[in-house]
Amino acid sequence: MPAGDNRAMDSTRKLGLDADTLLTTTRAVRRRLDFERPVPRDLVDACLELALQAPNGSNLNPWHWVAIDDPGTIEAAARIYREAIADQIARPAHAFRDASRVPGHERLMESSRYLAENLHRAPVLLLPLIDGRLEDADLFVSASLWASVVPAVWSFMLALRERGLGSAWTTVHLTREREMAGLLDVPAERYTQVGLFPVAWTRGTDFRPAWRAPLEQVRSWNVWRPGAGS
Ligand SMILES: Cc1cc2nc3c(=O)[nH]c(=O)nc-3n(C[C@H](O)[C@H](O)[C@H](O)COP(=O)(O)O)c2cc1C
Repeated sequence: MPAGDNRAMDSTRKLGLDADTLLTTTRAVRRRLDFERPVPRDLVDACLELALQAPNGSNLNPWHWVAIDDPGTIEAAARIYREAIADQIARPAHAFRDASRVPGHERLMESSRYLAENLHRAPVLLLPLIDGRLEDADLFVSASLWASVVPAVWSFMLALRERGLGSAWTTVHLTREREMAGLLDVPAERYTQVGLFPVAWTRGTDFRPAWRAPLEQVRSWNVWRPGAGS
């Protein structure tokens, strides 16, 4: 199979990436998601089985995973996502107002727009849930619950990548969490939604490391110090 071509991959084939390559090239994939090619349920389950091996507090497994492949439900979930994007454009969350300084910001915005406009075409969406509500939780409890599910979600994304599929971590619909809960019959008083993840084969499998702020800017030894250049 030519490098970077996954058209011939069957659902049990793996790319055989070494661990460092997997960790540095698992990207937020949007424009290169193949919306035409079906994703078998077995493949989603295989990646979820791997994800369930992630660490979680007291091994309580405080998660639930709603995998969506019903086209009508995907369409409705994508509508909620688009409406949440429109909310963000009208009233950007404070934390993201400075993002225009980040290298590649324009491309990122374009790619995010593309995903929003095409999410309804995704063959599968995944909605990971934390078993618990965090509104009244202190830092210990909320950190423990978030960190009991987030590593598993990332493992899921790594497992997809190794099989020639991709996803993008998205949280934008969470401003409309209740609507999504209503759509999917999620007991909203018990579960917290983590995000919404398109799942699709990727067009090609060659992905590269991305820009990040250099380590010297973000690491200090022994005591906190401002990063070099900050
Ligand atoms: C917590 C979190 C929330 C994100 N939310 C969205 C989102 O709502 N929509 C989107 O298109 N991408 C979203 N992303 C993807 C980021 O934009 C992406 O990870 C970032 O630009 C770095 O790109 P890379 O993952 O390919 O390195 C999110 C990522 C994270 C970790």
